[in-house]
Amino acid sequence: MLTLRFVTRSLAPALVSVAVASSFAAETLTIVVAGKETRYSVADLSKKTKATLVEIDDPVYGKKMRFDAFPLNDVLAAAGLDLASATDEIVFTAKDGYSPNVSFDRLKKYHAFLAFAEAGKKPGTFGKVSQGKTRLSPAPFYVVWTEGKAIEKEVPWPYQLVKIEAVRFSEKFPKLYPTGAKDDSAAMRGFLTFKNECVRCHSINLEGGDVGPELNSPKNVTEYWDPSTLRTFIENSYAFRYRSKMPPFPQLKGKPIDDLLEYFRFMKDKKVTL
Ligand code: HEC
Repeated sequence: MLTLRFVTRSLAPALVSVAVASSFAAETLTIVVAGKETRYSVADLSKKTKATLVEIDDPVYGKKMRFDAFPLNDVLAAAGLDLASATDEIVFTAKDGYSPNVSFDRLKKYHAFLAFAEAGKKPGTFGKVSQGKTRLSPAPFYVVWTEGKAIEKEVPWPYQLVKIEAVRFSEKFPKLYPTGAKDDSAAMRGFLTFKNECVRCHSINLEGGDVGPELNSPKNVTEYWDPSTLRTFIENSYAFRYRSKMPPFPQLKGKPIDDLLEYFRFMKDKKVTL
C-alpha cells in the first residue's frame, strides 16, 4: 500500500548537497528551442500561459492525483517552438541526468501537462514517489499526461524535471540519420526504432551510445552477420550470450526488426572513415 507523505522543509539526506549546489536550477526550468536557452520560474510561466487543474490516473503515484499544471504545448509555444515545425522530438532532463525523449507526434496526439504542485498547494509541493529504494519529491516539475495510466508505457513521465530541449535529430546526429530515405520507407521506420530502442547503447558512424559496439563503420553489421542470426540476436541476445548487457527485444519481432535491418543496410553506403 502506498502511503503519501508531503514534502516538508527537510529533504532526504542524499539530496541535500545536490539541492544546495544547484538551488537556482532546482527552482527553474530551462527550455531550449533552436539552440536558444531560456530559464523559467513558475511565476514566469504563469505570465505566459494559463495554469489549470488536471486530474490524472497517475501511474507514478499509482493512484488518482490532482495537479496545478501548464499545458506543455502552450509552454513550448511560449518558449518559441513552432508546433508545426519539423522538430523531431523533445528531450527531457531530470536532476539526476536521466533524459528520456518523446516524439513530437506523441505531443500532438496526447495531452501533456507540466505539473508544478499538487492542486492548490504552493509551487514545488508534491507528495513523494518511489524510485528504487528511495522516495523523492517530483519537484520542481513533473510531466503528466491526462490520458493517464492507459498510456503509461507509451510516453515518459519525467519528474524532478529541470530541462526541456527541442531537437531535430537530423541536425543533432547527422551521421546517424538516413539522409535521403523517404519518410514512409522501411529504412526510415527502422531508423525511428533504432532511435527509440538502440541509440542509447549503440553508435552508427560513431554517433550514439557506447555501451554496445559501433554497428556501421568500418564494417556494417549486415556485412558480417547473416540476416536470420541478426534477427534472432536482436529478439533475444540471451540465447547467444549469457548475461549479455544487451536486453532482449521480443516486442520487435517481425516487421520492426525487418525495418531495423533495412536501416542498417541503408547506412552501409554512408560509412565514416577515421
Ligand atoms: C542496454 C544497452 C543496449 C541496448 C539498448 C541495445 N544493445 Fe545491442 N548490444 C549491447 C551490447 C553490450 C552488445 C555486445 C555484447 C553482448 O552481446 O553482450 C550488443 C551487441 C549487439 C549486436 C551485435 C554486434 C556485434 O557485432 O557483435 C547487435 C547487432 C546489436 N547489439 C543490435 C542492437 C539493436 C538493433 C538494438 C535495438 C533494438 C540494440 N542492440 C539495443 C548493448 C545494447
